[in-house]
Amino acid sequence: MSTQIHIAHNKAQLVEDLAEVLARDAHDAIQERGVWTFALSGGSTPKALYQRLASPDWSGRFDWERIVLFFGDDRAVGPDDVNSNFKMAREALGETIAARIVPIIGEAIDPALAASNYEKRLREVGERVDSNLLGLGPDGHTASLFPHSPQLDETERRVVATPVSTLEPFVRRVTMTFTEINASRKTYFLVTGEDKAGRVQEIINGPRDVHNLPATGIAPTDGELIWFLDAGAASKLSR
Ligand code: 6PG
Repeated sequence: MSTQIHIAHNKAQLVEDLAEVLARDAHDAIQERGVWTFALSGGSTPKALYQRLASPDWSGRFDWERIVLFFGDDRAVGPDDVNSNFKMAREALGETIAARIVPIIGEAIDPALAASNYEKRLREVGERVDSNLLGLGPDGHTASLFPHSPQLDETERRVVATPVSTLEPFVRRVTMTFTEINASRKTYFLVTGEDKAGRVQEIINGPRDVHNLPATGIAPTDGELIWFLDAGAASKLSR
């Protein structure tokens, strides 16, 4: 596994840099395998990226008909719920591109069944996700892999349901496990803001400590890991 760090002076530039990398991923994957699978992350940070990908500057760079969008995780809430990652992504990407999303639908059926169904959908498209976008929570979680949660030790299933989370929103989630994420060809953390700088430093330069800092469990088996950081999020990285 190779870990790289890409730092941009502000979020707007960081988003442009990541959009360029994703456009290249999409082009290469479609050329080699006829499809690009991209797992979206939730939360608030990636909204600006999704808006750019849907903008006239970028949307033409992607052959959307040959792209399948997944979620690394979503909350088990309805698609119009303010806490839904699907709602956030649909609003940011627009209806046309959002039609390429395979929603998790964790609210309509038991989240554990939704997780099992989602894993099947993932495998229908390929044995591994091409590009996997992750965020970083203030407690060091990523996707919906939270500190001290049983999902951290899951090695067989590749998508699982969680109990009610320990961070807002206090709802059940459905999340990819480390097994799924670490099988990805390319994994990108997108982290901005000085408030996350301490966690970024701990996770990149500290020891693997999955139960306290789940993001330290992200270690692609034979893929590439790149941290996309703005100056604030990178401000405590030791040289
Ligand atoms: C979720 C996300 C989660 C998110 C981090 C960062 O469903 O909440 O998948 O892992 O990426 O919590 O969230 P922000 O971007 O809002 O800081």
